[in-house]
Amino acid sequence: MQYSEKVMDHFMNPRNVGEIEDASGVGTVGNAKCGDIMKVYLKIEDNIVRDAKFKTFGCGAAVATSSMATELIIGKTIEEALKITNKSVMEALDGLPPVKVHCSCLAEEALQSALWDYAKKNNITIEGLEAPKDSDHHHHIENEE
Ligand code: FES
Repeated sequence: MQYSEKVMDHFMNPRNVGEIEDASGVGTVGNAKCGDIMKVYLKIEDNIVRDAKFKTFGCGAAVATSSMATELIIGKTIEEALKITNKSVMEALDGLPPVKVHCSCLAEEALQSALWDYAKKNNITIEGLEAPKDSDHHHHIENEE
């Protein structure tokens, strides 16, 4: 299995690992396929994502994609943040082996779920954002706190 240099870099030196104590939104998703779990914290002010952190019990590709996803989302408006998909994250990483594509979906869904949490907490509607869904492959997990 061949990983790009960028994937290896983000796996060996993941950016934005940790948590944000006063996060504006927190999203936790699990991957039913492999059992891995991803948690994303967002700090949002004036409609802009000021900070993002993640924690994962996930594989190397999950670490690399969430590292890249948090890098991509910081500084973005909510509207721009919504456009970050697993595809754009994979492109930014110069690709992933096909069997690892589902890992990048975990990162995308955790971001969306954190944005959903933010919208819920602030009683706002974010246009184009759908409620985290229970699909065949992914299950939304209620935040413990
Ligand atoms: Fe589970 Fe990659 S194998 S997230």
